[in-house]
Amino acid sequence: MSLEGRELILGVTGSIAAYKAVYLLRELGRLGASVTVCLSEHAREFVGPLTFRTLSGRSVLSNLFDPQSADAVEHVALAERCHAIVVAPATANLLAKAAHGIADDFLTTLLLAARAPVLMVPAMDGGMWEHPAVAANVATLRGRGVTVLEPDTGALASGQSGKGRFPEVDDIVEALRRVLAPIRDLAGDRLLVTAGPTREPIDPVRYISNRSSGKMGYGLAVAALRRGAQVTLISGPTALTPPPSAVFVPVQTAEEMREAVLHHLDRATIVIKAAAVADYRVLQVSSVKIKGKRDLTLELTPNPDILAEIAARRTNTFVVGFAAETHDVAANARAKLETKGIDLLVANDVSQAGIGFDAEDNEVLLLDRWGGARALPRMPKAAVADAILSHVLGLRAGAATRKTPA
Ligand SMILES: Cc1cc2nc3c(=O)[nH]c(=O)nc-3n(C[C@H](O)[C@H](O)[C@H](O)COP(=O)(O)O)c2cc1C
Repeated sequence: MSLEGRELILGVTGSIAAYKAVYLLRELGRLGASVTVCLSEHAREFVGPLTFRTLSGRSVLSNLFDPQSADAVEHVALAERCHAIVVAPATANLLAKAAHGIADDFLTTLLLAARAPVLMVPAMDGGMWEHPAVAANVATLRGRGVTVLEPDTGALASGQSGKGRFPEVDDIVEALRRVLAPIRDLAGDRLLVTAGPTREPIDPVRYISNRSSGKMGYGLAVAALRRGAQVTLISGPTALTPPPSAVFVPVQTAEEMREAVLHHLDRATIVIKAAAVADYRVLQVSSVKIKGKRDLTLELTPNPDILAEIAARRTNTFVVGFAAETHDVAANARAKLETKGIDLLVANDVSQAGIGFDAEDNEVLLLDRWGGARALPRMPKAAVADAILSHVLGLRAGAATRKTPA
């Protein structure tokens, strides 16, 4: 695909890899794109504007208050006419500012004003990339639909080796093509996604819950929206911001989640139950705060099995469940798939550090009712979400063929 007729903004920030943006700009130009380059003040410490101006054939923008600019609100004008914004390299600082909506220079103000898709290409030292603050900012951006590329692994400017390298130009261009022409293969589908934990009250101030963060379910909702689906997101309490274009239904308990799911079930073409619904609730919830430091025995009773109920009630809906396992993952998951009577089970091993509950990454096993099994390698939850959705579409198409008489 040529990039002819595409109006792009290339943001460059203060990374040692800033000079590599020159090669990216040259390739974008070669593919026919019109590119306006926007340098952060700190990027100018690494690379001068002259090369960018010569290669793009346009003025390079940095200063929000440039008296030379013909258009005093140029960031708004640019934001309106561009098809995509690529920030390459994106520093840890830029990711933080974008995640928090800070607009203190031309590029960050543009990022707030624009509604065009955004591709971030982080490059930094391995220690910075792994820092929880950077990981949280990346997760926030991805949750908002921003595409954040994974850096390459290898030799870093610090002399050490690790994850943080600026990716190959071809990989960036490939990612840009996907950003520019998002796949709309879920257009016409209505997804019902559940996410997060449930809270089962003990008394007015205490509850039983679990470690689910909701990131997997929210990632699925964002990916499905981007791919053209209508999405209803039913979520237990999480720290995440729901995607604005989803119908959002907040719930607390398993019983509330059951009611919400059954209420929305008939409209759904695909149900994905990523929520970690508490298996038990307290039989006698105290109406007043339980006082005193004494032994306390709580009698628990099983919560309704929402997944089995969905499977029993559905008509043509494709049903996906999740299983959080700590041992014998494949065997337990296969048993769950069969007992519940669903189409696809996404199993993850929550005993492993760095994946599953409350982690940025996931590594899952996909088991389907037709006997198929596919292991996905460890990757960010946003990428896992896209892989699950593609797998669902593949299985659904296959199921339709299987039903067709020979
Ligand atoms: C030699 C040198 C190399 C740097 N390389 C990087 C880098 O690769 N990635 C990064 O996130 N920050 C890097 N920094 C730090 C950023 O330049 C610094 O955080 C700066 O405030 C970023 O500003 P900007 O995001 O507005 O461009 C480097 C700093 C120096 C002095």
